[in-house]
Amino acid sequence: MKPEPFPIVESLNDSVCDPIKSLIAEGIFERTETNNGLSSYLYFNQNALTYSLQDNNQTLTLSHSFTSGKNKHRQQYGGGKNQPLPKACGLDKHPSWTIFDATAGIGRDAYVLASLGAKVTLCEQHPVLYALLVDALSRAELHEEANSVVQRMRMIHGNSSNVMNNMSETNSKRPDVVYLDPMYPGRKKSAKIKKDMQILQQLVGHDSQDDILFETAFSTALSRVVVKRPKTATPITSRKPSYNVSSENTRYDVYVR
Ligand SMILES: C[S@@+](CC[C@H](N)C(=O)[O-])C[C@H]1O[C@@H](n2cnc3c(N)ncnc32)[C@H](O)[C@@H]1O
Repeated sequence: MKPEPFPIVESLNDSVCDPIKSLIAEGIFERTETNNGLSSYLYFNQNALTYSLQDNNQTLTLSHSFTSGKNKHRQQYGGGKNQPLPKACGLDKHPSWTIFDATAGIGRDAYVLASLGAKVTLCEQHPVLYALLVDALSRAELHEEANSVVQRMRMIHGNSSNVMNNMSETNSKRPDVVYLDPMYPGRKKSAKIKKDMQILQQLVGHDSQDDILFETAFSTALSRVVVKRPKTATPITSRKPSYNVSSENTRYDVYVR
């Protein structure tokens, strides 16, 4: 059964980018003029698409920008190709490798990889997260420094397992690296989790098909699969990682093919 269209509150001044217009045309989103009676919806706040969720007595909001705040800082001062993520993806030795980010979320990790020169295809299945991501990318395109980074990022809306399976059927070029950062159920109750992760979890929940995703990724990647895990979590699969790269709270399990 097709899910109910998700409301997007829009006025004449709001700039809706083309991928979101397509979601409206497909009936995944539905335009509305007011948020009256809605507990969960998308709207534009100072030109940025924003998700709003009424949770008990508080309103949680999530929007995204690649050109301000933490993302900009991480790109500028993050430590280049020797940061754990790019290193795990092999960019320190293979700067021109292509990467398929199969769990794009709002694209923070992919942006770091693209800012170091990698060509990244991002796939996100949740329409709200996909919309926040394409909106942030379309604003970043107008930004002098960010534009060249964004040109290396290509977005797909859909289930990554299907997209990867189709690569062999359509003879599409397979990526050198598949990167996975699935939701981790243990994060849910931690008091320490950041606000945007909290909203992400409310929205997406835990992905229960991690094993299928991993096996598809492993048969798709030409060189390696990299899986992001909380530092003390068990690996995503019974396969033994070839090695791992760790940072303060995170571990990247690397599965070399
Ligand atoms: C923890 S978040 C990823 C955060 C991301 N690394 C970032 O930097 O913003 C996991 C995301 O993967 C998406 N996801 C999980 N399984 C997927 C699949 N099979 N296809 C596409 N997206 C998937 C979820 O919807 C969720 O947005």
